[in-house]
Amino acid sequence: MFMNFWYPVVRSADLGATPQKVRILAHDFVVFRDQTGQPAVLSDTCAHRGASLSQGKCREDGTVQCPYHGWRFNAAGECTRIPSIGSKTRPPARARVDSYPVQEQYGIVFAFLGDLPEQERPPILPVEEHGTPEWRSTVITFDINYHYERSIENGLDPAHNEYVHTTHGYQGEREDSYTMMELRPFKNNPWGFGFMATFDAPPLKNPIMRRVRPKGGKMEAGSGTVGPNHMWTYINFSEKYSMHQYMFEAPIDEHRTRVFLLNERNVLFFKGGLRAKLNGWLDKKVSERNMFIASQDIRVMNEVSPRLTPPSRAKELMMPADKVILQYRDKLDEFEARGWRIDMAALRDAQQKGDVVFAIPCPARRETNAWVLDEVPRVLAREPAEPIALQAAG
Ligand code: FES
Ligand SMILES: [Fe+2]
Repeated sequence: MFMNFWYPVVRSADLGATPQKVRILAHDFVVFRDQTGQPAVLSDTCAHRGASLSQGKCREDGTVQCPYHGWRFNAAGECTRIPSIGSKTRPPARARVDSYPVQEQYGIVFAFLGDLPEQERPPILPVEEHGTPEWRSTVITFDINYHYERSIENGLDPAHNEYVHTTHGYQGEREDSYTMMELRPFKNNPWGFGFMATFDAPPLKNPIMRRVRPKGGKMEAGSGTVGPNHMWTYINFSEKYSMHQYMFEAPIDEHRTRVFLLNERNVLFFKGGLRAKLNGWLDKKVSERNMFIASQDIRVMNEVSPRLTPPSRAKELMMPADKVILQYRDKLDEFEARGWRIDMAALRDAQQKGDVVFAIPCPARRETNAWVLDEVPRVLAREPAEPIALQAAG
C-alpha cells in the first residue's frame, strides 16, 4: 500500500451533516463538511488523548468537535478551541491533526493521503466525458475481502473475460481464444499505462443491449491505470456505443478494499423528453448489471492464493497475456523506489502491540515537526530496479 496518491473516501451523496469514520491504508480518518459545505479529511485520532473524532460532531464554525473533552479541529487540522484552558488561551502548536488535500469529483470525495506539495502530486484519473451531455454517469460502491492490488490486476487482465464472465458472450470454450490478441499501448502516462485490444464479439443477448450490437463481429476493449489504485476500462460495443468504467479503490487494510465504480455510458439513456424519466430506472439496471459482473470476479478472487501478491515473481508462471500484470507491478516498484510504500511488517507489529498509532503524513508536516503522532513507517527510497523480462510462452 502506498501513500502519496488520491484515495476515494466517500460518495458525495453519502456525506451529510455528521462526521464519518473511514479506514484507508490501515489508518482511520474522519471526513466531514465544514460550514461552507466543503469536505474535509483529517486523521481521526485526537491529538489530546486519542479519542475518535468521528464520534464527535460538526460545529457551526466549520470544525469537528472531539467527543471526549470537546477540542475543536478545523478543516486544516488545527485545534481552534480547548475548553479546559478557557477561551482566552491559545491552543499549543502541537494541538493539531494531519489534514489532507481534498477534491470532490465525479460524485466522489477524494483525499490525497500523503505529504507531497501540490505541484508534485500524481493526478486523479481524468474522466473527460464526465458531465458532458452525451454521457450519463452512475457511482456505486462496494467492499471486497481481498487486497486492492489483486483487484486491480483482475480488472486489467485481458485473458479472464471469457472464463469468468461467460455472460459477456463466448463461453470460454473456444480452443484459440486469446492466441491472436494483440495489446496496443494506449494512454500510457507517468503514473500508469494502458492498452486496447480487439476481441471477437458475439451478438449481444440481452434484449435492451441487442440494439447496441445486433450482429456479431469485433469489439474494442482495454484497460489502464493511473497510480496504484485508479483504473479505467473502456468497452466499445460498436463504433458509436461505449461504456467507460472507472474503478477508484481504497485499501481498507491488506485484506479488505472499498471499490468506487464510476460508470459512464453513451448508451441506454434518453436525452430530455418524456422518456428521460426512464433514466433513473436504467441507472439502476446498469448498476445491478455491474454488480452482477463484479460478483463473477469476486467469486474467483476470493479464493486466489496467496492472499497478497507474492514477493517473488517466480512464484507465479506468467504468460505473454499477463504482460499488463507485470507492467502494473513495475509501476508499483517505481512508487516503492520513491519511498512511498508503507512498511506493512513494521505497521502490523506496532498495531498488534496496540500502544502506538501512526499518521499518514500530510503536506503540513513539511512545514513543522510539531506533531503528536509519528509518521507511518515506510520502505526506504532506493534506485528503481530494472523491469523484469516476461517468460516466453511454450
Ligand atoms: S481526547 Fe479529544 S479532546 Fe480529549
Ligand atoms: Fe472481470
